[in-house]
Amino acid sequence: MSQTWWRGAAIYQVYLRSFADGNGDGIGDLAGLRSRLPYLKDLGIDALWLNPWYPSPMADGGYDVADYRGIEPDFGTLTEAERFIEEAHDLGIKVIIDVVPNHSSTESAWFKQALADPSVRDRFWFSDEPLNDWQSIFGGPAWTQVPDGQWYLHLFAPEQPDFNWANPEVHQEFEDVLRFWFERGVDGFRIDSAALLFKSDTAYEDLDEVHGVYRRWREIADEYGGRVLIGEVWLPDQERFARYLRPDELHTAFNFDFLSCPWDLDELRRVIDLTLTTHTPIGAPPTWVLSNHDVTRPVTRYGRADTTFEHGGRLHGAPSDLELGYRRARAAALLAMALPGSVYVYQGEELGLPEVEDLPDEVRQDPMYARSGGTNPGRDGCRVPLPWSGEEPPFGFGTGTPWLPQPDSWHKLTAEAQRTDLGSMLNLYRSALRLRAELLGDGTMTWLSAEDRVLAFTRDSGLTCVTNLGPDPVPLPAGRLLLASGPLEDGVLPPDTTAWLVPS
Ligand code: GLC
Repeated sequence: MSQTWWRGAAIYQVYLRSFADGNGDGIGDLAGLRSRLPYLKDLGIDALWLNPWYPSPMADGGYDVADYRGIEPDFGTLTEAERFIEEAHDLGIKVIIDVVPNHSSTESAWFKQALADPSVRDRFWFSDEPLNDWQSIFGGPAWTQVPDGQWYLHLFAPEQPDFNWANPEVHQEFEDVLRFWFERGVDGFRIDSAALLFKSDTAYEDLDEVHGVYRRWREIADEYGGRVLIGEVWLPDQERFARYLRPDELHTAFNFDFLSCPWDLDELRRVIDLTLTTHTPIGAPPTWVLSNHDVTRPVTRYGRADTTFEHGGRLHGAPSDLELGYRRARAAALLAMALPGSVYVYQGEELGLPEVEDLPDEVRQDPMYARSGGTNPGRDGCRVPLPWSGEEPPFGFGTGTPWLPQPDSWHKLTAEAQRTDLGSMLNLYRSALRLRAELLGDGTMTWLSAEDRVLAFTRDSGLTCVTNLGPDPVPLPAGRLLLASGPLEDGVLPPDTTAWLVPS
């Protein structure tokens, strides 16, 4: 594969805890993932992105990292991780891992040393008094007091102390960590909370100094060749967002405008145009993301009256017509895969899993839930372990009881049940990813002026993608139909359906 494989890649996100359990303890792990590599190969993706796999007390699902150079024992060992990277590479699949530079864990060696010895506290933000009245992103105050009276800053949970990036030691540490994993063959990093690293007394989002860090990281990535840096940058200001993607900084960043966009023709067209206007002048490929481990699953979201996504207003429990949501999720998948750039598939999206909204409160583990006093249900509902096979839980996830309970109704959604069903979501993803590899990915697109309520464009290869967002069926443009997200009747495209065509 070329050095710029990432420009048009289809990247599958693995939330390891919930992917597949190889040792029967109810927690997904590397053994489970390795055993399912053939499934991922067959699905047709180019790369995997794994959420943090480091040793962690799991106060925030692994985003509280205790050791950046190890593997969480519940997930396996460093040797297994190295084998996994090799096996994925043998199948032609790249491996991207998460790096979490904004904060650490209270169980990390550095934080424990800081607690024991106040002279090494300047790797974090310690102070005699809270320096401001910031609230943590998960709710509650962002400052916590330690037994000797000082306070430390944590933008997320108290178990996640923020690093002090004004300290050169922190820079050195992360440069070493990048090298550590590049040496072991990883093909890239997804950078967690990438815009939050630097702090002033009054602000923590998108301070200018952060760009110096990514310029340096880019130099390191370039030394290895063919490696990619992907930013988690939630910034509505496009000009500020684009600064992260300058040619000597990050390669790509997640498109959260697209992810949050309602199922609405004008809004989708606006967001696609905005994305292209932001990316084209700097030569960075756009990314197209419908879901991840932090957001409501599309099948549920698209079935609601309000189809936007917002962290603060998750609309948990709002009525959802899941049949409608499923149809739209299929149409959205073909739309996302046809757009120019790279595309992400969050595990379970290819199975059409809905959000699990009826988890009992006592099994919820997301700190967002506890820290909001139960007012925000948090993100557990999109992290339920995958159903692989069989008629009842644990649906082939492993032999133990999964760490979050799976709905009984998921027997219809197992990978096994879908494999032989030609009309299944799984087979739609397989067919689409195969065609995408040949005809789509990196490049440009041209809007077609089409029917009023239709989103239609062509790609460099000649493929036309048409999505009907209106209430009525519309005639299809001329061409040979390659794939459609739902059944077509007499050459017309029903509402909430996408079709791919090529010139006949
Ligand atoms: C990112 C991650 C999220 C995590 C947070 C703190 O937004 O995607 O899961 O809780 O950062 O690390």
